[in-house]
Amino acid sequence: MKDRFYVTTPIYYVNDVPHLGTAYTTVAADAFARQRALRGMATRFLTGTDEHGLKIDRSAKERGQSPQAFVDEISGAFRSAWPKLRCQPSDFIRTTEPRHKKFVQELWSKCAANGDIYQGEHEGWYCVSCEQFYPEKDLAEGKTCPTHKKPVEWMKETGYFFRLSKYQDRLLALYEQRPEFVQPEGRRNEVVTFVKEGLKDLSISRTTFQWGVPVPGDDKHVMYVWFDALTNYLSAVKDSEHAAFWPPNLQLVGKDIVRFHAIYWPAFLMSAGYGDDLLPRTVFAHGFLTINGQKMGKSLRNTVEPVRLAEYFGADELRYFLLREIALGQDGDFSHKKLISRIRSDLAATLGNLLNRTLPFVVKHFDTTVPSPDASFDGEREAHLRKRFAELVDEAKTAWDHFEPHRALECAIALAIEGNGYFDARAPWVLAKSPERKAELGAVIYNVLEVLRACTVLLWPALPDKCDALRAQLGLAALLPIAGVDKWPSEWGGMAPGAKLNPGGPLFRNITKDDEAKILADFGVTDGETKVTDATTAKAAEKPNAHANPAATPAAAAAPAPVSADGVAIIGIDDFTKVELKLGEVKSAERVPKSDKLLKLQIDIGEAAGPRQILAGIGLAYKPEDLVGKKLVIIANLAPRKMMGHESQGMVLACGPSESLSIVTIEKDIPVGTRVK
Ligand code: ME8
Ligand code: MG
Repeated sequence: MKDRFYVTTPIYYVNDVPHLGTAYTTVAADAFARQRALRGMATRFLTGTDEHGLKIDRSAKERGQSPQAFVDEISGAFRSAWPKLRCQPSDFIRTTEPRHKKFVQELWSKCAANGDIYQGEHEGWYCVSCEQFYPEKDLAEGKTCPTHKKPVEWMKETGYFFRLSKYQDRLLALYEQRPEFVQPEGRRNEVVTFVKEGLKDLSISRTTFQWGVPVPGDDKHVMYVWFDALTNYLSAVKDSEHAAFWPPNLQLVGKDIVRFHAIYWPAFLMSAGYGDDLLPRTVFAHGFLTINGQKMGKSLRNTVEPVRLAEYFGADELRYFLLREIALGQDGDFSHKKLISRIRSDLAATLGNLLNRTLPFVVKHFDTTVPSPDASFDGEREAHLRKRFAELVDEAKTAWDHFEPHRALECAIALAIEGNGYFDARAPWVLAKSPERKAELGAVIYNVLEVLRACTVLLWPALPDKCDALRAQLGLAALLPIAGVDKWPSEWGGMAPGAKLNPGGPLFRNITKDDEAKILADFGVTDGETKVTDATTAKAAEKPNAHANPAATPAAAAAPAPVSADGVAIIGIDDFTKVELKLGEVKSAERVPKSDKLLKLQIDIGEAAGPRQILAGIGLAYKPEDLVGKKLVIIANLAPRKMMGHESQGMVLACGPSESLSIVTIEKDIPVGTRVK
């Protein structure tokens, strides 16, 4: 159905809490649902948790919990995380729910009735993390799983098999007739190659543990977790008032599980009697995120915990970054620096700036109302602006249709850039100087407001709250998608002359260089980040074709550098001894004018030339007079640098939050100038 849109994420294993990878898929799915809803489609967005299987059974045991108590807890963590990222799933399914279990058993029975399930024996190498058997030739070194690099286990199963081999030709025909079924193209080719190599029947039941859906009529066996899990997409809608949403339009998955979704899943459905028109329309596999150039590991994850990032930078800002920075389908790198840079350049300096520079004219010259457009002032610049408006609005729409959110958002920001360029060229501050040019000023401002209005719609799938806040300042209602009403801004001229505006504060935080340093320190990313990048860039540069192959981009080629539990690079003693730490005594201290934090200290470190001038950002926690006579530790061999016009010849060590930090001092009487090591 053209007017319906059903999007799904994988249901996540509850052996792990939500992290940036699972957040990425969920945010992308949410943005698609919002964009299709704005176009007037009735939408459904499903996510949930995958709660059965050996992996979960073992994780629960490790925690000393019953599987049920364990899955309840972690599933709850997923359910409550998503709204904090402004994700609004229409439904959240758990595989332990009765509505799901009943449905899986029905699907099993249909496959069995069609002769596709038989009893047999199977043994082989199994990765519990993947919940998958691997042929020996596919194992990594030392009999480990190629994905998880953990040892695989030899498993023997006597149980039920699914006749996957029977569906080989029908699957190949499906990929042939519906090239859009698996995307992007590279993944489709992989899937086709895999199926052409020949499909083996699949072991789909287990007897070695109990934590699963019982096989109908033989409850010594539980179903293989992937048979159980994949069916969630169906059980969430099929026997409900939402049945008409079947089949899904978009099944977003990571590239790690494309085989399950593009091969096993349609085969199960075919076996249960689903015709080609009732199979999912598109399985789209996105790439994998690395963090500051490194593979996502448990310790690194702490610094990029998605809810923490959202609370710190804003959920909308994080969403925008994830969708804009990484082309869906390709691997990408998350870094705090890149996030800050996107917020700064695209959101604050481009979109926010356009609003901030326009509203004062509306307030001062038009009584805070929308001025009138006036075609008599239309010239080349106006014609260009409108042409770009039409083109970019349309390109953004196409990009969403083609599963390219990064391009769609690029178009939206390109429109804001056009708006800023137009503003510069038409120089309203000059027009405002001549009262007789007021109508022209009004026409110019109207055009800029119109650009802003369109941006609020184009960006809404990624930045729903910020766009609604921007709309409130423009005097427009928050966007509320209505089925059957296309709100995509195809027509120029939606701002109503005379309507009241509500100017407010800046929409986006202005992150200064000083803020940035503090933020990076708060997240424990300092040298670790730059060092990893530098080293890998150098390595990649040695390879002549490094950039021709996307898998060999600097981030992907990097061997993960060792890091501490906080995600900071491990250094050798040589690195440490490069830092000259010395004991000093404060001789005098004063505040730096116009700064709350900076104090200018004269610190004696026993040098013949006299005390050193050092600036320290400790002014919220210390009064200058309290510091005089105190001993503290400084970095003595830091290159001098200027801060707010004053030279600083070193750095004072301190720790704690700005308002209550403590300088680092010593507890015995040691002479100044002594090296700290
Ligand atoms: O596979 N970058 O669950 P799972 C990007 N329960 N995306 C990532 C990622 C990363 N580094 N890490 C994880 C399962 N993901 C099964 C699914 S569906 C019927 C059953 C995302 O908890 C990505 O979407 O291991 C990936 O496919 C999914 O999390 C795997 O989640
Ligand atoms: Mg996984």
